[in-house]
Amino acid sequence: MANDFEKRPTAKFGDVEFQRGQGGEVHQVAGGDVPTLTTQQGVPVADDQNTLKAGARGPSLLEDQHFREKIFKFDHERIPERVVHARGFGAHGYFEPYESLSDITSADLFQRAGEQTPVFVRFSTVAGNMGSPDLARDVRGFAVKFYTKEGNWDIVGNNIPIFFIQDAIKFPDLIHAAKQEPDRGFPQAQTAHDNFWDYMSLTPEAMAMVMWIMSDRTIPRSFRFMEGFGIHTFRFINAEGKSTFVKFHWKPKQGMQSVVWNEALKINGADPDFHRRDLWDAIQRGDYPEWEARLSAV
Ligand code: HEM
Repeated sequence: MANDFEKRPTAKFGDVEFQRGQGGEVHQVAGGDVPTLTTQQGVPVADDQNTLKAGARGPSLLEDQHFREKIFKFDHERIPERVVHARGFGAHGYFEPYESLSDITSADLFQRAGEQTPVFVRFSTVAGNMGSPDLARDVRGFAVKFYTKEGNWDIVGNNIPIFFIQDAIKFPDLIHAAKQEPDRGFPQAQTAHDNFWDYMSLTPEAMAMVMWIMSDRTIPRSFRFMEGFGIHTFRFINAEGKSTFVKFHWKPKQGMQSVVWNEALKINGADPDFHRRDLWDAIQRGDYPEWEARLSAV
């Protein structure tokens, strides 16, 4: 049979006439009353049901860009759970400077007092898996994303001002030590096991943070009563090119509050979602939490 697409038999579905391939398969035709499917780049897709083939019986051709895009998207529909900070909860809000910081930075969001920049803040525990309880004794993440006129700007933070390690090559070891024991899969969301203490005993620079972890800071009353620390030292540059080293510190206007261990155990049992429920409920009733940013030059 001639390889002439125009001469192939057609099939009618409603008012639309589809052409058939040599195997009798229906070929979609974009346009008319049929909404046009497009690729992710917006190119109309003529046929979403047949892969481009070399000849009537194949093989399938990798040059069928739409086929590869469809499979690629399918393969990525499930995002694997994060290793750290898997359990988090966030809210939208805004950042508003009390005064212009143009003396130390040319970043647009700090130029004008009273001008609001949209932000998204994500609070998290570090070690626990997705379904772990909120009141676990753990460091809390405090990640802020600014949607500035100059682009999106992220500042990760924790609710503790220092960090376990200085060198990123130690991070996988630290987290393997903090997560559940590999041979039994528990304890989850907490570091009360030998692996962790073995690592800590061999890592002197982590000891200051361990002391913070054993304090009330790691069983906060809720996200609304937590401080946030950028930890890293950032470099601000003003319009004249002058540098200033700066640290970020978020102070809750609600005050800083924690629970005691006995309360944490009961809350975890009664309501493992206590922190996220608290933030949700507060926002629903219009009791919006606020933090003041302290940018200290160092
Ligand atoms: C060597 C040091 C560090 C390494 C290698 C590291 C690595 C990572 C990795 C791999 C993730 C997961 C990203 C994902 O799966 O999406 C993450 C998330 C996070 N890290 Fe770190 N981290 C380090 C230090 C810190 C420090 C010092 C802070 C606090 C300032 C911090 C705060 C966070 C937060 C808040 C998240 C979660 C962000 C979110 O909510 O989306 N990390 N980190």
